[in-house]
Amino acid sequence: MNIIVCKNYEEMSLRAAELLAEVVKSKPACVLGLATGSTPVGMYQNLIRMNKAGEISFKDVTTVNLDEYYPIDPENDQSYRYFMNVNLFDHVDIDKAKTSVPDGTAKDPEAEGRRYEALISALGGIDVQILGIGRNGHIGFNEPDASLVLDTHVTDLTPSTIEANSRFFASEKDVPRQALTMGIGSIFKAKKIILMVSGAEKKAAVSALLARRISTASPATMLNLHPDVTLVCTTDVVD
Ligand code: F6R
Repeated sequence: MNIIVCKNYEEMSLRAAELLAEVVKSKPACVLGLATGSTPVGMYQNLIRMNKAGEISFKDVTTVNLDEYYPIDPENDQSYRYFMNVNLFDHVDIDKAKTSVPDGTAKDPEAEGRRYEALISALGGIDVQILGIGRNGHIGFNEPDASLVLDTHVTDLTPSTIEANSRFFASEKDVPRQALTMGIGSIFKAKKIILMVSGAEKKAAVSALLARRISTASPATMLNLHPDVTLVCTTDVVD
């Protein structure tokens, strides 16, 4: 695993944006796997700036997002579709028809999982996947469990994730109890993974990742088995 330790959130955001921009420049029709949450917001701001400055173009880029709450309407301002529009897609030259987020309105979430998995395979996999990490070590919404699901699926959120994500909602009871998420196998279809981590509250999850053991009790530890992972983090996560 490559590890890039940055002095603060701003530097982490810039370094991650530069890594993503390298992929877009070398392969303009690439497939980007994207994440939501507070961690990648600054990276998206850098990508918007680079796009406006003419340094990179998203014209031929296809994107697939890691996850979406279930059920949720895409117009809901807490949906991950809404997040992506507001934080990136509305500000760059991307063709929104080439952007995908799991459908939080699907009648049959299991069928939606299969559709999404087939989509990722049809795209030929993901060139670079951005990941954040939960305090409990989750990646996407693959929560700690006795076993982990390989493919895109519907999952129950753990009480710790509901509590962590309640900061974005009016109250904890408004947080959806389920989500559609890429599985560990879907994430591993990415040729390259960039894991972004900032904040001392993620320290335990990152220590587990760096302890060179794998355990489904901390799903991010699985990333030790992937051949091309770069951890871009702030000093407070590793000191
Ligand atoms: C988001 C996602 C989650 C987050 C994680 C960290 O699409 O899949 O795994 O990356 O919960 O969230 P933040 O960045 O808000 O700390």
